[in-house]
Amino acid sequence: MVPNACSSCHVDIIDFEKHTKRIYIPAKVDCTPCHQKEAEEYLGSVHHTKSHFDCIACHSDIHYLGKWDRSKVAIINKCTSCHRIEDYVESGHDKAIP
Ligand code: HEC
Ligand code: HEC
Ligand code: HEC
Ligand code: HEC
Repeated sequence: MVPNACSSCHVDIIDFEKHTKRIYIPAKVDCTPCHQKEAEEYLGSVHHTKSHFDCIACHSDIHYLGKWDRSKVAIINKCTSCHRIEDYVESGHDKAIP
């Protein structure tokens, strides 16, 4: 696989000189060309339909992102950055997480 370079995501930096002189500040990154499946799934989510969050509301660590090891703890950590962990523990669902 070809690794992502800065301009794989910041695609609109075409004139490098303008950019380095701060004349051109890049626009927001569009995740959908590379993550169509996730983007389609996300369209139906309450986070999108009601709160209009961007992908980076949750994936705020995009520059440091490693491969997800399917760990459920990683998911809980993300969700509880906005939702109260106490509600989740009270629900008993946490017992299922090894
Ligand atoms: C996987 C996509 C992706 C790659 C690859 C990527 N970026 Fe970003 N970058 C983002 C996103 C998302 C933001 C948040 C702003 C936004 O929504 O566009 C961002 C923000 C930034 C910012 C604004 C300040 C900040 O840190 O929030 C700078 C500067 C930046 N990136 C530089 C770089 C450089 C330099 C590289 C290569 C070493 C790089 N980016 C590679 C997605 C990426
Ligand atoms: C409400 C929070 C949230 C939002 C918004 C969100 N994600 Fe995620 N996403 C997660 C969590 C949690 C995981 C799994 C654990 C992790 O990566 O930390 C994940 C995993 C992923 C993965 C890895 C999937 C896999 O099977 O390996 C991709 C790719 C991804 N998200 C892309 C996106 C894109 C693109 C968007 C916007 C269209 C988006 N996400 C919006 C929370 C979110
Ligand atoms: C230029 C293409 C490209 C863009 C744009 C891009 N990504 Fe990715 N992303 C990738 C590739 C390639 C991987 C590694 C996939 C793999 O290892 O299976 C990846 C991995 C991820 C993962 C981890 C997936 C996993 O299974 O470990 C997440 C989460 C993710 N990207 C979110 C985002 C978000 C959010 C954005 C927009 C801010 C974004 N990406 C923009 C190409 C891109
Ligand atoms: C960036 C903050 C943020 C993150 C991170 C986040 N949420 Fe949310 N979530 C919200 C907000 C705000 C709402 C309320 C949407 C509305 O009704 O306007 C919501 C609503 C919900 C709802 C609907 C609940 C209801 O009462 O209608 C569920 C379920 C939910 N989130 C689950 C999750 C899960 C699971 C994760 C992790 C993958 C997550 N959230 C991550 C902010 C977040």
